[in-house]
Amino acid sequence: RRVAVLISGRGSNMRALVAAARDPAYPAEIALVLSNRADAPGLAHAEAEGVPVAVVESRPFRGDREAFERALDAALARHGIELVALAGFLRVLTPWFVARWQDRLVNIHPSLLPAFPGLDTHARALAAGVRLHGCTVHLVRAEVDAGPILAQAAVPVLAEDTPETLAARVLAQEHRIYPAALAWLAAGRVRVEGSRAVILGASG
Ligand code: GRF
Repeated sequence: RRVAVLISGRGSNMRALVAAARDPAYPAEIALVLSNRADAPGLAHAEAEGVPVAVVESRPFRGDREAFERALDAALARHGIELVALAGFLRVLTPWFVARWQDRLVNIHPSLLPAFPGLDTHARALAAGVRLHGCTVHLVRAEVDAGPILAQAAVPVLAEDTPETLAARVLAQEHRIYPAALAWLAAGRVRVEGSRAVILGASG
């Protein structure tokens, strides 16, 4: 399956996906890395890895989200993309785009959803005093940071944690579960049953 990874910044999850997909047994090919910002640091890495890159800048569309997304969709079509993986893509997608890519659009979110949707998840987890925090890979729905869950990983919250140390612990798990979850989707092992996802052939 031909996958596009959408980024806006650093792109460490994109790098983890590109690295995993280098294994010939991996069921997906990272066929495109697309950024909505020309200065996203992750773009240079993708280029150095020989992955096709594209930039569709959101700024010129000045708030016309659907026009931006039509340009985005056209770029995905040009590259024959079948699945889209959001990896630090800092644009909220409209119901039009989400419906168009229904069950073929995944996101990684740095919390154990449904806890802490939205921004600043690590600071909010610390403020709430939770003892476990983590990350979630989920299919995207029109509602932000919601949708059938494909994978989660939990990490302990330590007394001396700052948002930065907690983020680093979570990020290491993101890099582990995102390639695994994308492989399930690409291999056709995900069945959606209402608001949940069932992974075929998984024991737990
Ligand atoms: C990650 O923590 C991801 O979960 C969140 O934004 C961050 C992106 O990091 N959505 P990177 O660009 O993949 O390094």
